[in-house]
Amino acid sequence: MAAIATINDFKKAKENKEPIAMITCYEFAFARIIEQTGIDVILVGDSLGMVVAGHTSTIPVTLDQMIYHAEIVRRGAPNAFIVCDLPFMSYHVSVEDALRNSGRVMKVTGSNAVKLEGGRDFRATVEALVRASIPVMGHLGLTPQSVHKLGGYTVQGREEDKRRIMIEDAKILEEAGAFSLVLEMVPEELAHEISRMLSIPTIGIGAGRYCDGQVLVINDLLGMDERFTPKFLKKYANLAEVAKSAIQGYCDEVKSGAFPAEGNVFK
Ligand code: KIV
Repeated sequence: MAAIATINDFKKAKENKEPIAMITCYEFAFARIIEQTGIDVILVGDSLGMVVAGHTSTIPVTLDQMIYHAEIVRRGAPNAFIVCDLPFMSYHVSVEDALRNSGRVMKVTGSNAVKLEGGRDFRATVEALVRASIPVMGHLGLTPQSVHKLGGYTVQGREEDKRRIMIEDAKILEEAGAFSLVLEMVPEELAHEISRMLSIPTIGIGAGRYCDGQVLVINDLLGMDERFTPKFLKKYANLAEVAKSAIQGYCDEVKSGAFPAEGNVFK
């Protein structure tokens, strides 16, 4: 049974030192499965642009695509705490844009919150969303929507100046009203320092052992792409192999005539 029902439970989890387990999800069947586990939070991540749509970045993902997937996930997990990513350029142009687009996400998808990437540049945006009763999860470190600015999918915050900026940005997001903060690809010691400093929980991916929670992309932890093997990832299954073997088995039996068998036909 998930421990997170409302945004108030995030702080409680941190105070009680109960690690928050978050996972991404993009579709109905897995949403149903996730809701039968103890996972606390489902993130409809714009990572869907990469793992579902096969793009090389999250940049092409549109607001309509996020809404389509978040609605599907909500149908599969009616009781889950769902966070929906705001995609690239849906909150960058103006605060008004961010409000209108986030409002659509909340109204149409039944999500509980939105997530956006970035620090001080989005202070006013986070404040405005929170004022409009839209809970915001922040995201610092490797922010994939900025991959072209960052120059690749690399660990962030190793240099002293960048480390200091990330610490300041984390504080700014908390002050602006974010209820939690994703830290992606950050040295463990820096993520630990930020986690100790904030009263809102940090949720890490590639950010070490001392965050207040962890998040992984569902396709990655299920081992659905054998080519993807970053250091931070633990694969809890090898679904690529399981699926390949099942599909090959079906194919072989169709070709040999073993399927359909007596038990699969109507009389
Ligand atoms: O889009 C996503 O899946 C994410 C997680 C990696 C945190 O932002």
